[in-house]
Amino acid sequence: MKLDGAVVIVTGASSGIGAATARLASARGAKVVLAARRLDRIAELAGQLPNAFPVQTDLRDPDQIRRLVDSAVVRFGHVDVLVNNAGQGLHVPLEHVRLEDLRAVTELNFYAPLLAMQAVIPVMRKQGGGAIVNVSSMTSRMVLPGVGGYSATKSGLNMLSAVARRELAGDGIAVSTVYPSVTATEFHQSLAAGARVGGGWSGPPPHSAEKVAEAILALIESGDEETQLTQDWGGVPGRGSQADR
Ligand SMILES: NC(=O)c1ccc[n+]([C@@H]2O[C@H](COP(=O)([O-])OP(=O)(O)OC[C@H]3O[C@@H](n4cnc5c(N)ncnc54)[C@H](OP(=O)(O)O)[C@@H]3O)[C@@H](O)[C@H]2O)c1
Repeated sequence: MKLDGAVVIVTGASSGIGAATARLASARGAKVVLAARRLDRIAELAGQLPNAFPVQTDLRDPDQIRRLVDSAVVRFGHVDVLVNNAGQGLHVPLEHVRLEDLRAVTELNFYAPLLAMQAVIPVMRKQGGGAIVNVSSMTSRMVLPGVGGYSATKSGLNMLSAVARRELAGDGIAVSTVYPSVTATEFHQSLAAGARVGGGWSGPPPHSAEKVAEAILALIESGDEETQLTQDWGGVPGRGSQADR
């Protein structure tokens, strides 16, 4: 998939990894459709990028997801790439997870990517192919106390992504999964509940949003199955398990 001229929908484009992905894709010639709830942020970003437009979207609402994809098709005539990036953490021990919080992050981290894939698949199939990148988390590749609710939603997403990859291969639609580790965004300030495990971060420097965005764009271009962004602990024994706090 070439990014130059491609129509790319980025969810969660109002901050962090999503905003960085939109900027980078635009710099490589993509037309970007920016989705998030905070219209002021995505409108401002769209104003800085050529061929970009914002669609205020609450991804917990299935109707708004369909409207997002419809808007992209109406504006640009096709959708080449979907980056399912929007997500929220839930960082409390399982004993204290409140059902309403888990339901909310499940709707965002698990249902919304599925519904967005369902909305773009017919469009991509009709045009002969496309690329989908689902943004997961390294927490789902380990067993990490304190983030079980969040990790479970991302583990579910991993399976959706892997199965979709196989189901859609015959249609020329490449489905990939990216696994970020700790990344310097607003993520840890906007958890549905809880706080970063262990309080302050004493590990290696967080990755930049741009580093994750580069990995997302590389997956779009290659169609590879996945990329894991592991933290560099400099060989400190026993510290790797903290990679995604
Ligand atoms: N940062 C990390 O350490 C880290 C590590 C591993 C994985 N990840 C994953 O990376 C992805 C991006 O996170 P980030 O680090 O860039 O965090 P972030 O800066 O907090 O960005 C989260 C984005 O999700 C959007 N969002 C939240 N709820 C939404 C809703 N109901 N409808 C639409 N959009 C919604 C937010 O936009 P609005 O609030 O404007 O709606 C925002 O644009 C997430 O899936 C996260 O799980 C992050």
